[in-house]
Amino acid sequence: MIRVGILGATGYTALELIKILIRHPQVEIGALTTRQSGRPAVSQIHPSLAGKLDLPLEDLSPDEVVARCDCVFSCLPHAASAEVVKRLVDAGQRVIDFSADYRLNDAEVYTAWYGETHPDPERLGRVPYGLPELFAAQISEAPLVANPGCYPTAAVLALAPLLIARLVRREGIILDSKSGVSGAGRTPKLGTLFPECNESIAAYNVGQHRHTPEIDQLLGQLAGAPVETIFTPHLVPMDRGILTTAYTLPVGDLTEAAAAETLRDFYREHPFVTVVDSLPATKHVSGTNACHLAVRRVRERLLVFSCIDNLLKGASGAAVQNFNWMYGFPETTALI
Ligand SMILES: NC(=O)c1ccc[n+]([C@@H]2O[C@H](COP(=O)([O-])OP(=O)(O)OC[C@H]3O[C@@H](n4cnc5c(N)ncnc54)[C@H](OP(=O)(O)O)[C@@H]3O)[C@@H](O)[C@H]2O)c1
Repeated sequence: MIRVGILGATGYTALELIKILIRHPQVEIGALTTRQSGRPAVSQIHPSLAGKLDLPLEDLSPDEVVARCDCVFSCLPHAASAEVVKRLVDAGQRVIDFSADYRLNDAEVYTAWYGETHPDPERLGRVPYGLPELFAAQISEAPLVANPGCYPTAAVLALAPLLIARLVRREGIILDSKSGVSGAGRTPKLGTLFPECNESIAAYNVGQHRHTPEIDQLLGQLAGAPVETIFTPHLVPMDRGILTTAYTLPVGDLTEAAAAETLRDFYREHPFVTVVDSLPATKHVSGTNACHLAVRRVRERLLVFSCIDNLLKGASGAAVQNFNWMYGFPETTALI
């Protein structure tokens, strides 16, 4: 049995993670943390867990977490996460970090986009990016894995096979993305209050969303040279889900059928990515670790559609998939 801890256990991603881990046959949950005092029962914070898990949420120090756990999932926000994660990894814990803290290779890029000095810059560039469809070998061996951002997961899974095969150009890639409101987390914010976002759809952070450098870093790495993307996220009034439509410029006369075949070949051995014939919808992947992809050729563009559940393949499902690789369990254990 692997004893796991979850930091920031009051949040949305932590709830989804707990729901997966309580049905994982090789996991025992040893610690759930919060900054709140009074050791509230987990079912008090997450009523859907009533009768399913009888544990308190505790304000634990990193040393107390180390004493109780073999592996830690950090569901903390950026900067706060690395402050703790560096201490856990130094103490020999294996960690899966949900935050953006270890996804970028360059501390200056991190500071430019996140407005903070990185708390653990020496580790940057040495932490595998937690997409097993691309980096399983590195993830298996790693003490620390950077769980990907939700938007980058949808975008990178859509484009990786085509960029690697040089079938689409590195320039002129448009990523039009829509996300449900849980993508912003449970911590209250004005823009995600019900009267602000219900019955409404709007773009946000145009040209300056923090997932931009992560997407560009990954796609550039896969393409072997810098890519030029325009990433525009939109908030849509639904609980969960991401739909990204990637508008690419094919190299040569790439047909829809050939593009679909390239994607199918690339993901043949990867159980969570499926190329579908119909157009993907967030409802089709909701509650699962699946990514659905589809392609359409329209005039000079090849469009790739990519759907995930932001809280699962975009966060907690991917984290357990990474955990399974790290500990040598079948990749699909506890996941659908
Ligand atoms: N939501 C998504 O779809 C999604 C997808 C991919 C990645 N992520 C990343 O996953 C992490 C968790 O996201 P989430 O949506 O679960 O967020 P959330 O619902 O807001 O939960 C984060 C939790 O972290 C704790 N926390 C907040 N600020 C803190 C601080 N300064 N120091 C220590 N603890 C703090 C809070 O717990 P207490 O107040 O109880 O201490 C809070 O419940 C974030 O890094 C996020 O960027 C989220």
